[in-house]
Amino acid sequence: MLGIDLSTKPFKVQAVAQLLGTTVDSVRRMVDEAGIEVSRQESGPKTRLFSVENIFDLAQHRSSKRANSKPRVKNQVIATIYAPKGGVGKTTLASNLACRFALRGVKVLIIDLDFQSNLTLSFGYDSELTQEEALEAGMSPSRTIESHFGHLIPGWPYGRRTLADVIKKPYGEAGPHIVPSDLTLDRLDTMLTYEVLEGKNSDLTIARLLKEGQSGKDPHFDTSDYDIVLFDAAPAKNRMTRGALLASDFVISPVSMEKFSTKALSYLSSVLTEMQDQFERSPELVIVGNFFDPNRVRVMGQLLTITQTYQEAWLDQTIRRSEDFPKALNGETDLPLVLSKPSSTSAIELRDVADALLIRLGVIDG
Ligand SMILES: Nc1ncnc2c1ncn2[C@@H]1O[C@H](COP(=O)(O)OP(=O)(O)O)[C@@H](O)[C@H]1O
Ligand SMILES: [Mg+2]
Repeated sequence: MLGIDLSTKPFKVQAVAQLLGTTVDSVRRMVDEAGIEVSRQESGPKTRLFSVENIFDLAQHRSSKRANSKPRVKNQVIATIYAPKGGVGKTTLASNLACRFALRGVKVLIIDLDFQSNLTLSFGYDSELTQEEALEAGMSPSRTIESHFGHLIPGWPYGRRTLADVIKKPYGEAGPHIVPSDLTLDRLDTMLTYEVLEGKNSDLTIARLLKEGQSGKDPHFDTSDYDIVLFDAAPAKNRMTRGALLASDFVISPVSMEKFSTKALSYLSSVLTEMQDQFERSPELVIVGNFFDPNRVRVMGQLLTITQTYQEAWLDQTIRRSEDFPKALNGETDLPLVLSKPSSTSAIELRDVADALLIRLGVIDG
């Protein structure tokens, strides 16, 4: 069975070269070498038209075949993208990082942990439609959501499923794999909250699940194949967020350099300190500056405060405010910005953030 859920606008060879950080010639060579089937324009110069799946297949082929560009993947890393505020770019960062990591040949599982399902939507799925409604609207039923992270939790009262049944592969086998979400994911929060009230230690449920997943011990949830597991958390500090943070090695926290207040970061630090006190574990903080505007004096003042207070956590690579982001959401494309506009400044900034994070998180050797 093909793992491909969606079809998107084709890419020309120049865009593919840009995405893979290589030359047009070497893309052509890799296509032949890997025996990847690329379609051609029907009329005119018969230009090659790459699908998004083709690009991820090439990325995987390159990382498995060519020792010099193969990232040396170390242990599996678990990270949560979280900030206590909405609208700071968590989901944007999550979807774009997932794609950039996969373009480096890193195997990514990304889990939508927000029942508002913005991440799920950003990969082209419609969490509101039932399969019947999709068929009626002439859409592929693979664009709908039938299950989510809750279905992977032991004791889930609505029927546990296996990871293979739940994941979506919007760009094929070699692209990022997604555990989608819909409104009913809220029930997981309720379930975990009840369990805590009953005196169970449910804050560690997700950590236990991930641990068994890493070792491949739990046949319902075998994540041993992935180099990185990423959670896109909701801004609410609910039980799911707490569980994901406790399961994570890292928390990647975007801060908006526009509406920045030191409150959000000091709140997050206090949450991590409390976790450490109560559970003797907490993820390491990495801060990513977003909506950055180096021309504004106030921003530079804020930057100085953060880099002094959170010197260790601050990532030097930042993302500027750009109109490309809201445009990418206009429904013109189902692709995260790094794929839809690979040569834009924002895509290049996201690439640099992704590359720096792979090293900082210890996914690959620097
Ligand atoms: N650097 C940026 N420049 C401009 N708009 C951005 C930037 N980063 C994110 N956005 C936009 O901000 C909005 C909120 O982003 P989102 O990732 O959904 O935030 P969160 O997940 O933290 O709530 C989205 O419309 C997104 O396109
Ligand atoms: Mg979000």
